[in-house]
Order: sequence, then structure tokens, then C-alpha cells
Amino acid sequence: MRWNPQTSKFAAFLTKKDIDLRSNTKMLYLGAASGSTASHLSKILADGVIYAVEFSWKPMRKLVELSKREKNIIPLFFDANRPEEYAPYVEMVDFIYQDIAQKNQVEIANKNAEIFLARGGVLLLMLKTRSIDAVEETKKIASAEIKRLDEKFNIIDVLKLDPFYKDHVAILANYDHP
Ligand SMILES: C[S@@+](CC[C@H](N)C(=O)[O-])C[C@H]1O[C@@H](n2cnc3c(N)ncnc32)[C@H](O)[C@@H]1O
Repeated sequence: MRWNPQTSKFAAFLTKKDIDLRSNTKMLYLGAASGSTASHLSKILADGVIYAVEFSWKPMRKLVELSKREKNIIPLFFDANRPEEYAPYVEMVDFIYQDIAQKNQVEIANKNAEIFLARGGVLLLMLKTRSIDAVEETKKIASAEIKRLDEKFNIIDVLKLDPFYKDHVAILANYDHP
């Protein structure tokens, strides 16, 4: 199935930036929903693994079904606010992808990175923003928000996802453990 940037923020992001997704990447995916994006990622990361966290039962049922076909998807029925609860099932990862529209979305990213993201690992955060017109203003707000919460991230890029998602920016950051 074609990966549609209108229905996947990850696909929308890839229309803006080319990133190196190695096939053996270990990914923690926060907010995997029913696995529509995860199903595409599972093919790209064919030799890797996707730890897919979702806390809503309805999409989780589909995610579990998907994981029976796509063996590198590990469905985890947990709240991403409490990474210590799924820590026994997740190893250190190279990549955290987060698509969770919650007020404390940056805090969730920080907590998870602290436990699971390897040094030099990458965070791709789909940050839900107020609709702001000026690109520079949006960039400033987004990077201020992530920096405010964790100084250990080096922001690589902040990209608007228009025309596909007008209320989100993608933040690509690198994690630098002390
Ligand atoms: C925008 S949807 C994700 C769409 C998905 N990334 C895709 O591209 O197919 C956001 C998902 O995050 C989940 N979610 C929100 N808060 C969460 C939390 N604290 N822990 C785990 N999942 C959460 C919601 O249940 C929802 O399924």
C-alpha cells in the first residue's frame, strides 16, 4: 500500500527531509495507534525492531493483529507517561518516534529518551502546535519548548508539515547523554 503523507505524519515529514533509516534500526514508537504508519516502518526497518506503545484499547487490537504479520513490531499496551512500566520489555533504541497529541508531549519524550535512547540516538517528535502563521515564530516556539524541558537534546531540524498537517511541526533532535 502507498504511504500517504496525508494520513501519516512520518510520510509527510519524509516529503520534507531525507533521513537515513537503516534497516537494522531499533525504534521506540510512542502513539502507534492501529499501526498504519508502523506497518510501513516495519518494512523499512526489516532487520530492526519497533517497540510500539499505545494506550487506547481500540487501536491496540488492530496493532496486535498487525504484529502477528509483521514480526518486528512489538505491541505494548501502556501509557507513554510511565516508561518504567514497559522498561522490562524494551531495549535501548537508536530512534524514538513520537506522535502523541498531549499537552505534556515534550515531557513524555524526555522521560522516554532518558531511559531508552542510546547516546547519539535520534528523536523525531511530531509536536502539536497552536496554528501560527509565521514559520520562524513556529520554529522558535517549538525549539524553545523542547529545549526548556531537556537540555540534552540538540535540535537538528524543525519542519512545518504543511500542507499535510497545519497544526504540527516535526522536531528532529539528537540525544546527548551526559
Ligand atoms: C495521532 S494518533 C497516532 C497515529 C499514528 N502515529 C499513525 O501514524 O498511524 C495518536 C495516538 O496516541 C495515543 N496516545 C495518546 N496519549 C498516549 C499515551 N500517553 N500513551 C500511549 N499512547 C497515547 C492515542 O491513543 C492515539 O492512538
